[in-house]
Amino acid sequence: MKIGVLVSGGDAPGMNKCLKELYEGITALGEEVVFVGHGYDGLVYGEVLKPKPAELEAYEKRAGAYIKSARSSAFMTPDGFKKALKTLKKHSLDALVIIGGNGSLKGAKALMREGVRVFFIPATIDNDMPETEYSLGFETAVSAGLDYIKKVMTTMEAFDKSCVFEVMGRYSGAIAEEVYNEYGADYLINSSHPLDIGALSKSVIKNKKPSLCLILQENLVDRSMLAFELETRTKRVWKADDVGYVQRGTDPVKKDLKKAKAYSALVTEAVRTHRYNTIAVTEGGKEKLVTLQKY
Ligand code: F6P
Repeated sequence: MKIGVLVSGGDAPGMNKCLKELYEGITALGEEVVFVGHGYDGLVYGEVLKPKPAELEAYEKRAGAYIKSARSSAFMTPDGFKKALKTLKKHSLDALVIIGGNGSLKGAKALMREGVRVFFIPATIDNDMPETEYSLGFETAVSAGLDYIKKVMTTMEAFDKSCVFEVMGRYSGAIAEEVYNEYGADYLINSSHPLDIGALSKSVIKNKKPSLCLILQENLVDRSMLAFELETRTKRVWKADDVGYVQRGTDPVKKDLKKAKAYSALVTEAVRTHRYNTIAVTEGGKEKLVTLQKY
């Protein structure tokens, strides 16, 4: 069998570890592995790559996606989708391992509906996939956010300043919630704790701490406007900061390396036993393989 592997969407720490584990595991079964560069774009444009063991070794514990990822708009067009199917045929790919988040899973299901055999590994720092309790990269994103905030708060505290920190998560409040809890921050604004500027200002005015830390989930309110509003209402100095891409670009923490290994082992076993159209997930704290529905 010839198996293609691609990563798609926002890169998540642990993806490179999956590439190495999948390559080693599947080739040990006597099957062939090729990579598809630039996510679904690589399927559309025929970017099929031969894995190089030295590269796999070099990138194993690094963040990013060394074979390149993409958010492919071409794949979503009827013409692009047809080209993707042609690439699979042209390179005689018997099955595809897709590593990514919600958008990538939609793509995988579209392929499944055309009869393509897929395996899926959930990987997104947002940890917002209903199929699994844990998606690769989340723990690293939280840890990177914490490191960043600790450093910035040190300088805030030196001047009795307060700060709004916007963290990633797309439309999910998971990273914000975890960072808030682990840092022991003063305020949280996320999808489960929406902004009530009046109540927040009152609480800030009453707060005796000289420096306050507010964690804000992205895509809710403008962080600079919020800091300005708080500064006006509470007569404190408020700064606004974007924690941003450091949450994706930080090398994977131990948990993500372990999860990448466990998910890849499940997929390798699924290849061996021909359990196509499956996804590796965490359920009740344990990794397992689950059948994917086409819709
Ligand atoms: O899905 C991962 C993520 O980092 C989100 O947290 C964020 O909203 C988005 O990707 C940013 O995407 P882009 O890299 O396209 O700016």
